[in-house]
Amino acid sequence: MPSILSADFANLQREIERIPGADAIHVDVMDNHFVPNLTLGLPVVEAIRRVTPAMLDIHLMIADPDRWAPAYAEAGAESVTFHVEAAAAPVRLARELRERGARAGMALKPATSIEPYADLLPELDMVLVMTVEPGFGGQKFLDLCLPKIRRARQLITETGGDVWLQVDGGVSLETVERCVEAGADALVAGSAVFAADDPDAMVSRLRELGSA
Ligand code: DX5
Ligand code: ZN
Repeated sequence: MPSILSADFANLQREIERIPGADAIHVDVMDNHFVPNLTLGLPVVEAIRRVTPAMLDIHLMIADPDRWAPAYAEAGAESVTFHVEAAAAPVRLARELRERGARAGMALKPATSIEPYADLLPELDMVLVMTVEPGFGGQKFLDLCLPKIRRARQLITETGGDVWLQVDGGVSLETVERCVEAGADALVAGSAVFAADDPDAMVSRLRELGSA
C-alpha cells in the first residue's frame, strides 16, 4: 500500500486518484515529539476520508497515542497503528480501537524487540515492523530487521487469528521479495510509488513481486 508521505501534500486528493489500484492508503501522522518530523493530523485525515472510499491505514508516530488514536478510528479509518514504545496502556488502547470499528495495529521501531509484546497478539489485528527509523521517507531498508519479521510471523502463526504483518520503510522493487520471504503480508511503499512515472503501475509491480 502506498504511503502518501511521499505524495504532493498540496494535492492529496489528486495524488490518491493516481493510485486507484492500491489496497489501502497509508497515512503517516508525525508530531515532532515521537519522531523529529511533523506531517498531518486528524483534520487532514477527516478530509481524506471525505474524498476516498479506499481503506485508510493510519500510522501514528506520535507521543501519547492513548489520548489521540481513538479519534482516528472515529474519523472512519479502517486501521489505526500506534507505536508500542509510546503507548502507556497498549491493551486498553487496542481494545478502544476495536470498539470503534478499526483494526488495531502495533508498530515497532527497528531497535524494539517483539518478544516483550508477544502476549498482546490476541488483542491486535496488525503488527508493523519498521525497517527504517520512523520519521522520513526515502531511507534505506535495514536488513537487520529481517529476523524480527520472521519472528513476528512465527508468533502470529503460533497465536492464530487474522493478524497482518506489515513492513514499512525502504520497500522497493529491490527489497520487497526479502520482506515477503521473511513473512510480511502487508507492504508499505512511499518513495518507490510516488517517485515512479506511473505510481499505480508501480503498486501492481510491487504486489506481483511480493506475491511471487
Ligand atoms: C516513515 C514512514 C513510512 C514512509 C516510508 O517513518 O512511516 O511510511 O513513508 O517511505 P519509504 O517507502 O520511502 O521508505
Ligand atoms: Zn508509515
